[in-house]
Amino acid sequence: SPLHDFIHGLPKCEHHVHLEGCLTPSLIFHLAARNGITLPSPTENPAYASIAALTARYEHFTSLDDFLAFYFEGMAVLRTEQDFADLAWSYFQKAHADGVHHAEVFFDPQVHQSRGVAYATVVAGFAAGCQRAESELGLSTRLIMCFVRHLPVSSAREVYEEFLAHEHFQAQVVHGLGWSSSEVGPPKDMFREIYAAAAARGIPLTAHAGEEGDPTYISTALELGAQRIDHGIRLVEDPELMKRVAQEGILLTVCPLSNVRLRCVPSVEHVPVRKFLEAGVKFSINSDDPAYFGGYILDNYCAVQEAHQLSVMEWRIIAENSVQESWIPDERKAELL
Ligand code: ADE
Ligand code: ZN
Repeated sequence: SPLHDFIHGLPKCEHHVHLEGCLTPSLIFHLAARNGITLPSPTENPAYASIAALTARYEHFTSLDDFLAFYFEGMAVLRTEQDFADLAWSYFQKAHADGVHHAEVFFDPQVHQSRGVAYATVVAGFAAGCQRAESELGLSTRLIMCFVRHLPVSSAREVYEEFLAHEHFQAQVVHGLGWSSSEVGPPKDMFREIYAAAAARGIPLTAHAGEEGDPTYISTALELGAQRIDHGIRLVEDPELMKRVAQEGILLTVCPLSNVRLRCVPSVEHVPVRKFLEAGVKFSINSDDPAYFGGYILDNYCAVQEAHQLSVMEWRIIAENSVQESWIPDERKAELL
């Protein structure tokens, strides 16, 4: 595309990437060997026969939950602080090469805790990766802890208490909170009490909604205090709600290649970027789980350009909104604009 160099050079902010979603098949096999962890046997699940077989299986996810099974199985190879630091660093190097200047990254501590890895280990490792990105790459970073919807609320409440009690909280090592994992099934408002408590403390909040779920998942997330919506593509099905989201300047963190791989849309053409631009809905373009969905942030930008042929002006609007809606001080925004 003639705009490729321009798109590569655009200063990017990434708002929707799960660090555990940066765990490539080769890193899964490498860390399994390093940590003496047995992966599912290939007779149980032929996808684990080899790096190539696992990579090939990722091209055939049938739904969010089909993907999540691999995502949660894969992250079981992460055990030590060094594993988490290495994983974060591998993402930041790639993001830097793609032109990312600021990255807000998710992690799922409940899932690590449920297999015996302490909250403090996970956060210390990921924070070390962030520190290194800041000092060696000049990338600004934010860690966002996600609550997962497939585990009981009591588990989320426990990790929220741990988050508050940890010295990292006062130091704002973990900047904000989100929720993720299975969308349709668990109660839409399962984190109502936690979000109310966190909002009262002024903690920045986001939420995965409107990915597989209908627009009522989005309105519920907003009602609970989410200031941003992760995915949100099904917002186009509710024009009234879309008007409100535009008016309130709520950012959607859209992930086009993820939406295609998880069959939320048949192709990137069906990701409603043009409808959002026309309605004045702010959005950023992100990779979600790049090791699983066949591309990092630049691949997502390029896929949008291939499918939608946006103008330089439209790209500038996207890039500017991505900076303006980042959870960073105005001085940092000014450097990025
Ligand atoms: N966790 C990691 N990726 C996710 C996605 N796309 N939706 C919900 N939860 C997730
Ligand atoms: Zn996500």
